[in-house]
Amino acid sequence: MAMPVVDTEYLKEIDKARRELRAFISNKNCAPIMLRLAWHDAGTYDVNTKTGGPNGSIRTEEEYSHGSNNGLKIAIDFCEEIKSKHPRITYADLYQLAGVVAVEVTGGPTVDFVPGRKDSKISPKEGRLPNATKGAPHLRDIFYRMGLSDKDIVALSGGHTLQSIPKLVFQSQVIISKHVSIFATHGKAHADRSGFDGPWTREPLKFDNSYFVELLKGESEGLLKLPTDIALLDDPAFRQYVELYAKDEDAFFNDYATSHKKLSELGFISG
Ligand code: HEM
Repeated sequence: MAMPVVDTEYLKEIDKARRELRAFISNKNCAPIMLRLAWHDAGTYDVNTKTGGPNGSIRTEEEYSHGSNNGLKIAIDFCEEIKSKHPRITYADLYQLAGVVAVEVTGGPTVDFVPGRKDSKISPKEGRLPNATKGAPHLRDIFYRMGLSDKDIVALSGGHTLQSIPKLVFQSQVIISKHVSIFATHGKAHADRSGFDGPWTREPLKFDNSYFVELLKGESEGLLKLPTDIALLDDPAFRQYVELYAKDEDAFFNDYATSHKKLSELGFISG
């Protein structure tokens, strides 16, 4: 378990940055992409070689140019606005803080945040993040390599409750308030980023357990299911958690908060 090793001034900066991130992420409706940035910085961790992980290396052109990071430069630039006001905060901490705040401001659980991560510019080779066209064995290969479990895989996949609505990310709030139904107006997304199209849930800016509810319903008009989503249904060890989280949002929030904290602290041993 990580313990804070930062000084009081640093903690104050974190507190200020957290407040600024709350306002920024809410105003820009960019919670989904901020959460994805945090996950993609952390999700390269290799527990055997102790390389990758939440170390800010995704800010290097080499790494954000990886195919799986398509679109994340936007989130990196958003974070730079906060970084310029709080230069002492490491990128590694800032990206993870943004991920935690993204979950919080969209109505998700509070994920405990411990600062003190160090920055690195050493990027792992491409290919450490999951490939959405594959099945359960691949998900296990990838997440076990991070040192995470079946339960973490399913709980964290619930992060797909969020998906950005591109036009809203770039436009002002005035435009948002004119839209009675955000989904009906802008619900299709991102064929240009991942090759996949459409949101997972009807309210892609609300963090809830609807990802699991929709998953169990099967095919739904206009909603996205990746092969890796279907794998969570087909594999009995995964499916038990899908069923639990679909019927018990508190159980999902509890497990999600635990798994997200683990993800955000991969390889982060301080003290
Ligand atoms: C988006 C794959 C796990 C959070 C996406 C997209 C794909 C994908 C293909 C669409 C990207 C786009 O076109 O914009 C996967 C696979 C996973 C996985 C195969 C393996 C289990 C996770 C985890 C989290 C997460 C663990 C966080 C806890 C997100 C979010 C988005 C997203 C928030 C929406 C980003 C946006 O709309 O801006 N993911 N993902 N994903 N993923 Fe995942």
